[in-house]
Amino acid sequence: MAERKFGKVLFTEEQISKRAKEIAAQIDKDYEGEEVILLCTLKGSIMWIGDIMKHLTVDTRLDFISASSYGSSTTSSGVVKIKFDPEINMYNANVIVVEDIVDTGNTLKYVLAKLQERGPKSIKVCTMLNKESRRTADFHADYVGFEIDDLFVIGYGLDFDQKYRDLPYISYLEEDDIDKL
Ligand code: IMP
Ligand code: MG
Repeated sequence: MAERKFGKVLFTEEQISKRAKEIAAQIDKDYEGEEVILLCTLKGSIMWIGDIMKHLTVDTRLDFISASSYGSSTTSSGVVKIKFDPEINMYNANVIVVEDIVDTGNTLKYVLAKLQERGPKSIKVCTMLNKESRRTADFHADYVGFEIDDLFVIGYGLDFDQKYRDLPYISYLEEDDIDKL
């Protein structure tokens, strides 16, 4: 079967899976004997959270949240909207927000402030990718899959205009790639 190639491959499925396993081991160690609520940020984190959770041995419960600061372009609008709120009771719970990518940090800063209102025992963030050089918000990710440069990436859950989430690798797009899509 032909493989669909879009952009330049940055991380393969194998590399992502290996890194997820390492991070899961770290989470297991940090939360030994405790339960964790994994909060999947829709839609981009679906593949990454699957990789993380299947390797965890601590007890977990799963829920979803949807927040967005992006329109259909490659730049942030800066305005964050919560579109779907988790139903699970987070009072006194350990929460790990599992994110696809942290860019300016605006989205997560807002989301974390909202979640704090529910009185969790702790909140940490586990992101697949981190663009530290783009950060404008005062926000720190606790578990980071990979640090990347200021690139626009797609695949493995990440989209461009809601497409390419299904690619089994992470690739990056350059201006001329975007023009061809
Ligand atoms: P932030 O609020 O600027 O940190 O934006 C975070 C959100 O923007 C992420 O959760 C993604 O949904 C989206 N995003 C940021 N950079 C990229 C990218 O390179 N590719 C695809 N989506 C991105
Ligand atoms: Mg996201």
